[in-house]
Amino acid sequence: MNILVVGGGGREHAIIQKLKEDKRAEKIFALPGNGGIAADAVCLGGSATDIPGVIAAAKRCAADFVVVAPDDPLVLGMVDALEAEGFACFGPRKNAAVIEGSKAFSKELMKKYGIPTAAYEIFTDMDRALTYVETCPLPAVVKADGLALGKGVLICETREAAREAVRSMMEGRLFGDSGATVVVEEFLTGPEVSVLSFTDGETAVPMASSMDHKRALDGDQGLNTGGMGTIAPNPCYTPEIAAECMEKIFLPTIRAMQAEGRPFKGCLYFGLMLTPDGPKVIEYNCRFGDPETQVVLPLLESSLLEIMLAISEGRLAETEVRFSEKSACCVILASRGYPEKYEKGFPITLPAAGRDERIYIAGAVERDEKLLTSGGRVLGAVSVAEDLPAAIESAYALADRIHFDNAYCRRDIGRRAMKALEEKK
Ligand code: AMP
Ligand code: GLY
Repeated sequence: MNILVVGGGGREHAIIQKLKEDKRAEKIFALPGNGGIAADAVCLGGSATDIPGVIAAAKRCAADFVVVAPDDPLVLGMVDALEAEGFACFGPRKNAAVIEGSKAFSKELMKKYGIPTAAYEIFTDMDRALTYVETCPLPAVVKADGLALGKGVLICETREAAREAVRSMMEGRLFGDSGATVVVEEFLTGPEVSVLSFTDGETAVPMASSMDHKRALDGDQGLNTGGMGTIAPNPCYTPEIAAECMEKIFLPTIRAMQAEGRPFKGCLYFGLMLTPDGPKVIEYNCRFGDPETQVVLPLLESSLLEIMLAISEGRLAETEVRFSEKSACCVILASRGYPEKYEKGFPITLPAAGRDERIYIAGAVERDEKLLTSGGRVLGAVSVAEDLPAAIESAYALADRIHFDNAYCRRDIGRRAMKALEEKK
């Protein structure tokens, strides 16, 4: 089979390496791909959101199957357009991707179907939003309705901060048109868990749970980023909580989407908070998480290609999805200064990765057979081991063997999870 993967980050690198384990994957193409992915797939360049460009590329490489990984092409309707041209795809159609594309949509869906989430109000009128934040409970969580690279959420401790957040999103368009509508919601507390779930619209098969580390600096300080590291499975997510989430969140969401005439086929990401009142949904994503995928897929023992084909053909219930009992840790090596200003163009030296190690490249270009940094998040150093402490230790040992100028990583990935493990004992 010829497979085209749309996207070009660390998540896509992990997906491509996993797809390659299936012998049926003869040729893999990535659009755009990146300098590191080029070791595993033919990188086509171009833009992941260019619908006519992706269709032309799919035709050119005679793709038998197309995997659309990032949120923005999914929300734009990339899968609908590819399917209209006769391509089999992995990923939700536009009318289902809206579960991530509009926070107002997802909040209304949860309210209508009784799915636990933070209490909220939706505003399209700035004056009404400003009036609301004069009396709402603090801290207030102000969210831009649309996609904002995971950064469209401001947690406001004071009324002044809440007013400023509303103004900057609705008037200053801090996140562009994504902020034309805002959601103001209740502040929840508790450990966060990410659960990616395979679904063909009827059946939900959750993957190994994980924990992201979104803030730039150790101790969860500094700005929000796309994610500085992950561990899986998440020790806060016990089998009892998993069963409760299946019953109260995962299945009700899949059924709600079906009832709305928006069957969700692909990977549905549940961002959860385990609050004192039980698990609640913080956000849905219509795709694999980045960098969650980098720790979840190395634990998958079944064929990813088979699962993806089964989902596109609506036969997930009969398909084997087995995860290893081991643990994984991903440490992101970023360019110093990310997520603000940083320099790029530095050569990267990569060691040979061992059997339980993976290096997924996110932001690098190839020049004269050298790999040069080209992004904020440059790569993920991933290790799989018998337990979480060993996975963390070996992921850092791997990260410390990788070199480029101005490399920066958090030194405490997994520390929160380790604390939770100790408290469980
Ligand atoms: P989101 O982009 O919706 O995942 O939000 C980014 C981050 O903001 C989440 O991972 C949480 O840490 C935090 N967050 C979002 N909503 C809430 C909430 N209602 N209460 C507390 N923290 C939140
Ligand atoms: N790691 C969070 C996300 O992919 O949105």
